Amino acid sequence: MTTVTMSVSPHRRIGPVPRRLFGGFVEHLGRHIYTGIFEPDHPTADADGFRQDVIDLVKELGVATIRYPGGNFVSGYRWEDGVGPRESRPRRLDLAWHSIETNEVGLHEFAAWLERVGSDMMLAVNLGTRGTAEALDLLEYANVPGGTALSDLRREHGRERPFAIDMWCLGNEMDGPWQLGHLDADDYGKKAARTAHAMKLMDPSISLVACGSSSSAMPTFGDWERTVLRHTYEFVDYISCHAYYEERDGDVDSFLASGVNMDRFIDDVVAAADHAKALAKSSKTVNISFDEWNVWYMNRPPEGAFSGTGVDEFQYAPRLLEDQYSVLDAVVFGSLLISLLRHCDRVTSASLAQLVNVIAPIMTEPGGPAWRQATFFPFATTSRLARGVAVDVDVRAGTVDTTQLGPVPDADAVATVDEDARTASVFVVNRARTGERTIEIDVSQLGDVQISEAHLLADEDLHAANTAAEPNRVTLGELAGVTIVDGILTLPMPRVSWAAVALSW
Ligand code: AHR
Repeated sequence: MTTVTMSVSPHRRIGPVPRRLFGGFVEHLGRHIYTGIFEPDHPTADADGFRQDVIDLVKELGVATIRYPGGNFVSGYRWEDGVGPRESRPRRLDLAWHSIETNEVGLHEFAAWLERVGSDMMLAVNLGTRGTAEALDLLEYANVPGGTALSDLRREHGRERPFAIDMWCLGNEMDGPWQLGHLDADDYGKKAARTAHAMKLMDPSISLVACGSSSSAMPTFGDWERTVLRHTYEFVDYISCHAYYEERDGDVDSFLASGVNMDRFIDDVVAAADHAKALAKSSKTVNISFDEWNVWYMNRPPEGAFSGTGVDEFQYAPRLLEDQYSVLDAVVFGSLLISLLRHCDRVTSASLAQLVNVIAPIMTEPGGPAWRQATFFPFATTSRLARGVAVDVDVRAGTVDTTQLGPVPDADAVATVDEDARTASVFVVNRARTGERTIEIDVSQLGDVQISEAHLLADEDLHAANTAAEPNRVTLGELAGVTIVDGILTLPMPRVSWAAVALSW
């Protein structure tokens, strides 16, 4: 059995853990809204048609800010379609996902749902088929208290107080040729700057997110960030990052190293943002909103995928992007959370994409049950235990040679320390594919600590997953055999596993 040594020093402080790091994303896509969160005929539905079983799971997941309503969807969306009396709302073709959008759920309904799950809204404006004027209309409708045409319309629609949305996305993935209204970096940068300038004139309290690259593999990556920030630096607060990972062609080692890819991506975007800061001679720092991240089997043939050949094929609430997550996926997912925490001085907001049914930790069947996918567990546990400040962990591990990323450490970890609450947590991933390992973590600098919780995500079958028929096949287990002796925390970790240990003193 091999031993990996690590040490936690409270002095290797990264920064305060922002609650917004544990955000989510709800898009009008597939069965996310319809039969996901909203299903009036469901046995658990409340008076507004929201599934209570899903509300309970979202609360358990512990999600801060939720990005809405897209995603690719927002680039063709008319927000006005989703407000006012439901019976007069139009049915539209959603060109992004070849679906029928009934607009039964819009801004008011989504805000009501968020109140039930205890999360805040992060709203995206359409800079694909629309522009500055429509973004201003939406901001007026949402945030102006009253006494203007659109704020009074909101009040007529039953919402007296403003929605007070403080974080806004300036479009979505505008670098992507698939995006409705796709632009090059100069054109998007100018459009985003004009819109941001106008939005801040109306409400200077808001934070704005400029679109970064849709992935670090985009041919324009780097140049896109440089150009967009050159135009927008003065007006925006965040640049976005999006990244999805998947096991390709059985290359498990490269997949397990996805966190290393995320680390490098973040470092590159931080460098681009700081370069733009120097050029702008600004004292402001633009941070990262990692507002789409997850495992997504984009390259597997999806069930019920649209063929995109005719209008008659547009469906209401089709089954799209309903990935089933395995233990292996969840271990990688846990390592992505480690990477986000390690960068929380600059990644101050993040959104897991997505929340229900669509590449999601929560699945539902229409008229049937809701259940947790394997990825639910690392998210819920990290969101609950990561408190105080994030602390870098000194990891002395071996290496694994990967085809995609070269040699990478075969284990990784990050810690959080809350001095006021006298608690700390350590999050560890074991990437080694054979044998059990002992992870020894020197936590003596924290003082005389006790173990208060120890959780393990692992399974002999790396491809085990939860399904409607077997919703509890994968759960979070107790980490058996964990000890603390003379300040050394010892974790016996099986191959390909993720663990979280909470300490107190
Ligand atoms: O999350 C699914 C899709 O992925 C989003 O709509 C889009 O922004 C990204 O390409």
